Amino acid sequence: MRLRVKVKEHFGKRFDEEIRFFRGMMQGPKTVGSIVPTSSITARRMASVIDMHSGLPVLELGPGTGAITKAILGRGVKPDNLVAIEYSTDFHQHLLRTYPGVHFINGDAFDLKTTLGAFSDQTFDCVISCIPLLNFPMAMRIALLESLLDRVPTGRPVVQISYGAISPIAANPDRYHIQHFDFVMRNIPPAQLWIYKRG
Ligand SMILES: C[S@@+](CC[C@H](N)C(=O)[O-])C[C@H]1O[C@@H](n2cnc3c(N)ncnc32)[C@H](O)[C@@H]1O
Repeated sequence: MRLRVKVKEHFGKRFDEEIRFFRGMMQGPKTVGSIVPTSSITARRMASVIDMHSGLPVLELGPGTGAITKAILGRGVKPDNLVAIEYSTDFHQHLLRTYPGVHFINGDAFDLKTTLGAFSDQTFDCVISCIPLLNFPMAMRIALLESLLDRVPTGRPVVQISYGAISPIAANPDRYHIQHFDFVMRNIPPAQLWIYKRG
């Protein structure tokens, strides 16, 4: 009986998140960029790049309703060691309530220096990004990547989710390397994961 209540609570909560996400998508299709949250499998795969021994905070971009935030915390990152930038005020409010202690910032990841504020000069272990890059011009994508790579140690990754077959950021081997990290079928739509690194 208790199990049935728990299962009902779990699916009820998940359904609420999906509705909230879908509503966000209807209000801002260009910024949200997907109709359902990232699957837990994809989220865990993205979070797997974190070096738990570095002691450095993790930077997440576009947490939405928190599918990847949950996986990052699930890896053992302390809430205080996670900084996450979310553009939507509605999602931001939801995140503050759902994941207390995480440094959620309501702002624009493309204006990183201003948005990061007190964390502007912080070095992060890595960056986990869900920004729907394909909805923005290439020059903006490249500028964002460069400013992210300035904030992680050489060799540490920026992981980006995308839904197309090619990297959402153009190659520039003199500046950074691109690695196709994974293709996850169990995601709607199936997800491509990309890693960008310097050095
Ligand atoms: C595809 S959704 C991913 C949401 C969530 N991480 C997930 O995996 O289910 C993209 C998220 O990026 C956010 N976003 C879009 N543009 C942004 C920007 N310039 N700065 C910060 N967040 C942004 C959207 O509001 C949305 O929450």
